[in-house]
Amino acid sequence: MADQDRTPYVDALLEFAQSDPGRYNVPGHQGGIGADESLHLLAGQTALVDDIPALIEGIDVGEPNPFQEAQDLAADAWGARRTWFLMNGASQGNQAMCMAVAHMGGELVVQRNVHSSVIDGMIMAGLKPTFAAPELDPELGVAHCLTPEVLSDALDRCPGAAAAVIVSPTYFGASADVAALAEVAHSHGVPLVVDEAWGAHLHFHPALPQDALDAGADLVISSTHKTVGSLTQSAMIHLGSERFEESIIDRCISMTESTSPNSLLCGSLDAARRQAAINGERMLEETIPVLRDARAELRQIPGLEVLDERLLERESVVGWDPLRLTIDVRGTGASGYRVAALARSLANVNLELASDTVVVAVFGMGTGTPARARRLVDGIAAAVAELEADPPEKKPEFALPPPWGEPAMTPREAFLGAQEVVAFSEAEGRVSAEPLATYPPGIPNVLPGEILTRETLDFITDSVDHGGYVRGAADRALATLRVVSQAK
Ligand SMILES: Cc1ncc(COP(=O)(O)O)c(C=O)c1O
Repeated sequence: MADQDRTPYVDALLEFAQSDPGRYNVPGHQGGIGADESLHLLAGQTALVDDIPALIEGIDVGEPNPFQEAQDLAADAWGARRTWFLMNGASQGNQAMCMAVAHMGGELVVQRNVHSSVIDGMIMAGLKPTFAAPELDPELGVAHCLTPEVLSDALDRCPGAAAAVIVSPTYFGASADVAALAEVAHSHGVPLVVDEAWGAHLHFHPALPQDALDAGADLVISSTHKTVGSLTQSAMIHLGSERFEESIIDRCISMTESTSPNSLLCGSLDAARRQAAINGERMLEETIPVLRDARAELRQIPGLEVLDERLLERESVVGWDPLRLTIDVRGTGASGYRVAALARSLANVNLELASDTVVVAVFGMGTGTPARARRLVDGIAAAVAELEADPPEKKPEFALPPPWGEPAMTPREAFLGAQEVVAFSEAEGRVSAEPLATYPPGIPNVLPGEILTRETLDFITDSVDHGGYVRGAADRALATLRVVSQAK
């Protein structure tokens, strides 16, 4: 067991900065000397002095060096064979992952509602996807997880798949049965990749859902900044097995990253790892009961429900994350957007997400203090009290979307091919060059390379007519769509 109390990279940065180095290298502000006064106000002198470039002896040069040691400590803390620090978020992890998968074959099975960075990664890598549908919640209009049966069926339909890619936990805190999904992937001879962007903290408390590495995932993308305390944009990718080649992952990460990685982001990962490994269990031990009480209080507010154990009634869900408070606001008669806007304007309470039916509050692993929970509950209570006493208007039922259109080409071919703009009403039968996802529930109805069907176009029109909205189209008004040009 490594000494998790150490912070080798942070220590090396501090030592360098405190040695009063003559700075004739980048960044151009050179320790703050050349920075505008507004940047001093924004970042502070300490951050400017500690903004140190790559390739400095004693920090990240030589073997071993503090940068490598910091990543090795992270691998040890999360139980990975190897861990890489990422300076461009889990988005970079997904793009690098797609490039790595492309080394093993041209096809993959993907959960349909993966983050847009996976779609971008497939475009970059030229991968051909076969999609697997997550379970839909017809009441809340949100997507949950993938069942092992659905993954197995998708892998049967895609015998050339080089990997399977899933998301767990979801934005709403629902965790999939990753162990069973890993077994399905492995029995089909492919590795399982888990986008665990929302689950960096899961490893550190036994009451939380099992983390993906522990459940047998082969590659895990983790957005450390989301729930563990590193700086925004810093993330990690963990290798869990030999089903991926380490040197290929390494190369794919370097090709998706700046050659000038930010030392503060990187240092924040070293610090956050120490905190999680040394204090994580205690911090969660304190946070979890506070949030349990906050849930109970929120339930007392007329019209509100909080998702928790009830998520487990869903077939695809085997665990739920207590750090996510997904509040069902349907009983108030107002939308989640309205409740979130009121909480912000009345109490300066800023929520992570709002949809038609829910608002979601997120806590970090150690930020669930009684005072912070109180402010959230009071802010939401104020928002609900402010809602007009109008009788709740009946919301339209959430309709299931039609099947996806046939893929006519890969996302990359559509993205890079010649394109034209056509009227929405004339797009039937054309190959889409852009993604279209109706909210709720935000699962892409169309991805680049797929044929636009009448049913899908009608469904999108119908959703918008009923107050939903569509993401992905260049023309937000949806008067036109970008499609692949037809060969002359
Ligand atoms: C499931 C999932 N994967 C990846 C990402 C990208 O993470 P990052 O913002 O760290 O790039 C997100 C962001 O919200 C996400 O929800």
